[in-house]
Amino acid sequence: EKGGYEHFMLKEIFEQPDVMHDVMRGRVRTEEGRVVLGGIEDYLDRLKQARRIVICACGTSWHAGLIGEYLIEDFARIPVEVDYASEFRYRNPIIGPDDVVIVISQSGETADTLAALRAAKEKGAMVMGICNVVGSTIARETMCGIYTHAGPEVGVASTKAFTAQVIVLYMLALALSKGRTISHDEMRLSLKELSKVPEHAAKILELDSQIQQIADDYKDARNFLYLGRGYNFPVALEGALKLKEISYIHAEGYPAAEMKHGPIALIDEDMPVVVIATRDSSYQKILSNIEEVRSRKGRVIAIASEGDTEVARLAEHVIYIPQASAQIMPLLTVIPLQLLSYHIATLRGCNVDRPRNLAKSVTVE
Ligand code: F6R
Repeated sequence: EKGGYEHFMLKEIFEQPDVMHDVMRGRVRTEEGRVVLGGIEDYLDRLKQARRIVICACGTSWHAGLIGEYLIEDFARIPVEVDYASEFRYRNPIIGPDDVVIVISQSGETADTLAALRAAKEKGAMVMGICNVVGSTIARETMCGIYTHAGPEVGVASTKAFTAQVIVLYMLALALSKGRTISHDEMRLSLKELSKVPEHAAKILELDSQIQQIADDYKDARNFLYLGRGYNFPVALEGALKLKEISYIHAEGYPAAEMKHGPIALIDEDMPVVVIATRDSSYQKILSNIEEVRSRKGRVIAIASEGDTEVARLAEHVIYIPQASAQIMPLLTVIPLQLLSYHIATLRGCNVDRPRNLAKSVTVE
């Protein structure tokens, strides 16, 4: 069942390189410079003409949605808004026939997400789904969609479904860009970057024992802060959610630049701070954020790019991951954070596959 792993969660984390291949199979055509997404093919023109895209989801799927916003705006230049499904459905949103609403759900059964989808349909919007469970209610009620093909996810904390959702959003963003906002060469380059992700992910998984050691150092912490910028900001939110869910340690994720607008007041030697500090356009800024934490005696666990020497001078622990483009980074930076929360939780004796108070599929509001 667990394929030799102690928990489903660990098995599912380690399955990610294979899952990534499965999500892309037959869809990513690097040499041809195109993406083939059968489930939305007939709707692609309408999607490209959308006045606006609104993404609705809950929890981890909502975090994937935030990355989707960055990807679609970045590549396809279509305005995107991301909403919690529970807020969208009750706030009388401005939605019409020119809008596209994308709902993201691993289970395809989340009550709030389903209600958001029905509300959007009623207002005449085109509704598209990104689901993992084939034939689920949300998959059936959307007009078109893309399956994540991550396989059954048993662990309550979502891991491989998240990376699969982000890959789908990356492919979607490129499909929406084709012939509009991206050149053939850029397309091939972006697809090439994507196809290297499973290999990078496998390399990151080799860091498991290093991450377990770090976890041992911090397992008794009562609070954690997670910081990231740009594409890594939603990953900071996701890292904090994973830790809360399965270890019951209070954790918050923040866009790093927001730290000085409040959370910096919390920082002292008892507040470990996880900083995603990979090399991209905000790298220098994130280095100063680490300095700000250090000068207040905060302990920093950093995720940095291979070959980096700056971060090591500032952070107490550094987890090095392969370098890739900013748009690819969330697929890589989330993996060490999944492992960190897994190990902290198991070292605390928590039941990671069945955390208290949580259900795999939230079919009530
Ligand atoms: C987090 C987690 C939840 C779900 C959320 C949405 O690890 O599992 O936050 O992501 O309940 O579920 P789906 O994607 O099934 O709609």
